[in-house]
Amino acid sequence: MPVLSEALKEKIKSYFPRYPSKQAVTLPALHLVQDELRCVPLEAIREIADLLDLSPAEVHDTMSFYGIFRDEQHKLGKRRLWVCRGLACALRGGEEVLASVCEKLKVAPGGTSEDGKITVEFAECIGVCEGAPAVLIDDSGRPDVTLDKVDALLTELRA
Ligand code: FES
Repeated sequence: MPVLSEALKEKIKSYFPRYPSKQAVTLPALHLVQDELRCVPLEAIREIADLLDLSPAEVHDTMSFYGIFRDEQHKLGKRRLWVCRGLACALRGGEEVLASVCEKLKVAPGGTSEDGKITVEFAECIGVCEGAPAVLIDDSGRPDVTLDKVDALLTELRA
């Protein structure tokens, strides 16, 4: 049974003119699918391969090369929270922020809260070192997320 909507397929096709080949659209296509489905199911890999004139194995190779894509068994929550534990953030409490987030959500890094709302990850640097300790919420960096701001952050992400 198909998992990609017609709208999503059209969105993927709209990338074709921007890239030198269909194969080059593999990465953006995986992002579009994961953004919408919160994972990249096996069937989606087949459908992306069809759209891009590739084999499913080629799409899977790209997907597995990057550690950011999830399969159906490890679906993302509605929001993805990356807590930085790179050097600048670690020196300013990033590890404690990560431990606090995980404890409050009762998950290990990589896990998703029971209500399916928040997936927690750790990052080694998200490019906001001047605002350490920092987090990445979906695609947006947020500086100065100190331990005392964890409760408010989680309330915001659950809303
Ligand atoms: S080390 Fe945390 S943003 Fe760079």
